[in-house]
Amino acid sequence: MNAPRPTLLLLLALAGPAAAQKSPDIPVGQVIALAEAQYAAFLKQYPDSTRQPRSTQPDGSLQLTTSRNWTSGFFAGNLWQLARFTGKDSWRHRAAARTETLEAEKYTTDNHDLGFILNNSFGQGYAQTQPPKYCEVLLQGAATLSRRFSPKVGAIRSWDFAPFTYPVIVDNLMNLDFLFAASKLSGDTTYAHIAKTHANTDLKYRFRKDYSTFHVLDFDPATGQLRKAMTHQGYSDQSCWSRGQAWAIYGYAMLYRNTHDPRYLAAAQHAANYFLKQTNRIPDHIPYWDFNAPDIPNAPRDASAAAIAASGLLELSKYAKSPKKYYQGATGLLSSLCTPQYLATAGTNNFFLLKHATGYKPANSEVDVPLVYADYYLLEALWRYQNYNQFLALL
Ligand code: GLY
Repeated sequence: MNAPRPTLLLLLALAGPAAAQKSPDIPVGQVIALAEAQYAAFLKQYPDSTRQPRSTQPDGSLQLTTSRNWTSGFFAGNLWQLARFTGKDSWRHRAAARTETLEAEKYTTDNHDLGFILNNSFGQGYAQTQPPKYCEVLLQGAATLSRRFSPKVGAIRSWDFAPFTYPVIVDNLMNLDFLFAASKLSGDTTYAHIAKTHANTDLKYRFRKDYSTFHVLDFDPATGQLRKAMTHQGYSDQSCWSRGQAWAIYGYAMLYRNTHDPRYLAAAQHAANYFLKQTNRIPDHIPYWDFNAPDIPNAPRDASAAAIAASGLLELSKYAKSPKKYYQGATGLLSSLCTPQYLATAGTNNFFLLKHATGYKPANSEVDVPLVYADYYLLEALWRYQNYNQFLALL
């Protein structure tokens, strides 16, 4: 097990404020000022707290969703993150108002997205303000999500639609942080057990020999055997969908935080090494939507994959024995995301922060658009960067 290095922390304490200087090329304050402007303008123009921004539609108009959509928790999460950055009660109140409209999802059993919906909204809110009601919603949501776990397969079922039989997709890993949190909040270890079992099943089949990832693992629910490893949002069953690879980096680094199991740390490093090998070939490092897209270098980019990976790489850099490459990978991505090429100006981009993300290219859906979850992971990565920078500056 690789614990964080106390000697480096000690060195930092001895080095004093000079070591705490931020890299000059990641303008955290500028992005937070932009987020305040964009979200204030959005809330003024779209005051209905039951409709959440997701993306831009083909005609250029804003796409709003109800709480049932898998992306519904991200906007509330963005407001909580803004509250954390600014310390302002006004953002806390706005975040709470958006969060509380999502409560009904604690009973939703027809998909696996409760981690995204509830943990990024109620979970963020609970971390900052601890309302008992939020704890109740989180625990009910974790109980509901757990109903999609099959001990025979050893995993939580992702989707209920054809052509899949018992699909387990890579971003299902993101639910596991929610389940670990539920065990800590309730003292009931069942949720952590489900999370570890799911992670072990995922680890067995997710990676190819070169540590690129499959998007979908489809199981036979009667036998628990893998039927097929395939894609849904990527270019082909044998290609590497870049956001899937980013979820794997983030997911396995998070699993190591929750378990200290070195197998998860190794998996996160392998996933990251593959991702960085691909993105280091791209001048601005921002991944194409699929690393094997046939029209590279003209293929659309996915800024959401870059933001998720940046946040995951920053966490990984805390645990890895050789952290420099992961830290530099993260800051390389953030530096590009914070340039005018990817970062919107106030009053544009339907009030989102990032441009040039891609949701589901094979369906020609959400191609080269803003996506609310790209902004969520950008804000999280900037928070991790700002707060871990003292530690990482010495590496
Ligand atoms: N469903 C999560 C994603 O599209 O990445």
